[in-house]
Amino acid sequence: MKPIVVVNFKTYPESTGTRAELLAKKLQGYTKKLKLIAAVQVVDVFRVQKKVDFPIFAQHADFGLPDKNTGFNIIESLQSNGAAGTILNHSEHQLPMEVIEKTVTRCRAVKFPVLVCVQNISEARVVVKFNPDMIAYEESSLISSGQSITGSHADKIKEFVKIVRGYNLKNSKRIIPLCGAGISSKKDLDAALALGTEGVLLASAIVKSAHPEKVLM
Ligand code: G3P
Repeated sequence: MKPIVVVNFKTYPESTGTRAELLAKKLQGYTKKLKLIAAVQVVDVFRVQKKVDFPIFAQHADFGLPDKNTGFNIIESLQSNGAAGTILNHSEHQLPMEVIEKTVTRCRAVKFPVLVCVQNISEARVVVKFNPDMIAYEESSLISSGQSITGSHADKIKEFVKIVRGYNLKNSKRIIPLCGAGISSKKDLDAALALGTEGVLLASAIVKSAHPEKVLM
């Protein structure tokens, strides 16, 4: 099974607008050994998804029905503009649990893949019950630190994976566990897989590199 690698473009200047397109195109050639997903800003979804043939996720989706609403980026609009899914509740864009629950439920109803981030084990225990497609455990203090979560938080990752897999077994579900924060090498990815995840989320190691495609390779 190929590992999942979600590259979060965040709002870095190097991965915004036309530079988001360029970065996605650079990464495109490296999908043989990975299930690559890029998570771009909502405003960049449409332009980027037209340029590449791997899935482009939005970094966030608003809850709202296709009706009388103003200024929300709702699931159905993201879908019709080419988004292949969305992240929710990144530690840099946190949401109340009730909003996560209703947004995940809506995503599932319209078959829009959803990856929910959690910052700790107790959040994971709650979010798993919402039944998202993927859950990523990210230790926020390690984000963009270059120090991989797989080092200092190996035991917590194992516990997180146990929760997700336990829930899957008991309820016949297939929620995919991922982890992220400070991931920057194949060694970190291998460590994440060895701890039981199916892949990683990462950002700065790729987006901030002068040779992002080499890092991904
Ligand atoms: O969503 C991924 C992100 O929060 C991790 O960031 O820069 O530590 O890879 P980074």
